[in-house]
Amino acid sequence: MREVPIRVNTENSRRMLEEARKFAPAGVQGDGRWYDPYPLFISKAHGSRIWDVDSNEYIDYHASYGPAVLGYNHPQIKDAIKETLDNEGVLFAAPHPKEVELTKLFAELVPCAEKTVLCGGGGSDPMYHAVRVARAYTGKTKVLKFEGGYHGWHDYLLASVRPDPQKAGPADAPHTVGGSSGALQGTVDQILVAPFNDESAVERIVEREKDNLAAIVIEPVCHSAGCLIVKTEFLQFLRDICDQYRIVLIFDEVITGFRHHIGGAQAILGITPDLGVFGKAMANGYAISALAGKNDIMSLFAPEGPVFMSGTYMGHLLGVTAALKTLEILKDGAVHRRLWDMGNRMSGELNAVIDELELDAYCVNFGSIWCLYFTRHVENHRDIIEMSAQHKGYPKDVAYRNTLLNNGIYIQPYYTSRGFISAAHSDQEIDKTIDITRDFLTAHKDDLR
Ligand SMILES: Cc1ncc(COP(=O)(O)O)c(C=O)c1O
Repeated sequence: MREVPIRVNTENSRRMLEEARKFAPAGVQGDGRWYDPYPLFISKAHGSRIWDVDSNEYIDYHASYGPAVLGYNHPQIKDAIKETLDNEGVLFAAPHPKEVELTKLFAELVPCAEKTVLCGGGGSDPMYHAVRVARAYTGKTKVLKFEGGYHGWHDYLLASVRPDPQKAGPADAPHTVGGSSGALQGTVDQILVAPFNDESAVERIVEREKDNLAAIVIEPVCHSAGCLIVKTEFLQFLRDICDQYRIVLIFDEVITGFRHHIGGAQAILGITPDLGVFGKAMANGYAISALAGKNDIMSLFAPEGPVFMSGTYMGHLLGVTAALKTLEILKDGAVHRRLWDMGNRMSGELNAVIDELELDAYCVNFGSIWCLYFTRHVENHRDIIEMSAQHKGYPKDVAYRNTLLNNGIYIQPYYTSRGFISAAHSDQEIDKTIDITRDFLTAHKDDLR
């Protein structure tokens, strides 16, 4: 693959990283912020645009890894936050009326939500609580997740996210590969791993482990691997097998929730999990996440039940305010209809170019999240491994992203080329992205066949 050098002047980012390295690991706040040769330092974001510290302006498809479903710094949310600051404050760490409003709204909108707890941080927190309460509910300890799925930083589910192919084992019976040094091996040993969309592999594991298996955890559309579509029949099969063996079915809707539909992906797909976890798009960028679920499981949480649950920032007033306003804006479905139209247009037009040029690539979208895979078939994580995309430095993706960057378009360098469209994107911005991508695919067609 011919290299595409970055031609944008990003000297200030490079210099800033040198300084930052002295004060933070690798100079960034967490693994997801790093990419080669150095990450851009972003100075501001508004609507569909971001600016870096060299004053370059980009059309943005990173959306802060998903939250900015309405676009950055949405004026109505900003006003709601200002009003809350002026009239109420920031945090009481005591019950308040707005949290009742929000949990009631969850019960109205989200199929699985009979009761909801509002966590004060990212999606990892409620994922952790979901596993713990599933263990308490079933009296069992193991958890089944899918290879390639990411569910947060904690040891309960941090395994086989992007496993080293040398350690990953057979495709239809993957090994559990721990994701962090320092994790307790005994905890990692409680995680079982299966391939997406493979009923017989899951059936074998469940038959063997049904007396130990507390939960099956899945992203109903696997955006942590780009845009990997989980078949509806497969989700229905998981629902049935969980019912049969008293296993808790947990949907990780941290990315899908409220981005594709006001009731979460579960409302589109017609399959209701026992527990659903929400974050990101829920408050358009403010820090809040939620665990929602069936009453008999949720009632096990303290102080109603024996499963400990507490946190200074639970129900944080600014997060709750932003979530209420975001859901109010999304509720009538008009924003989601437009997001789906834009996502479908992006993938439809890119696939037409790909077909015309007979390339070994395809673009897949679910609503506003689109991913350009440089291969023809992606059904599970091994298909991604096969196209050698498991490393952030994959040359076709790098060449594509550098081309976008050189033309004023930003996709966070990630192991697949995934983009988030927001309600702030204009049709002209989508057109520009399609045009630049068409030119890239045409210019590199010989390398992409
Ligand atoms: C599908 C999914 N689940 C859980 C998480 C963890 O969320 P957070 O990083 O907000 O803790 C993420 C984060 O990217 C995610 O993509």
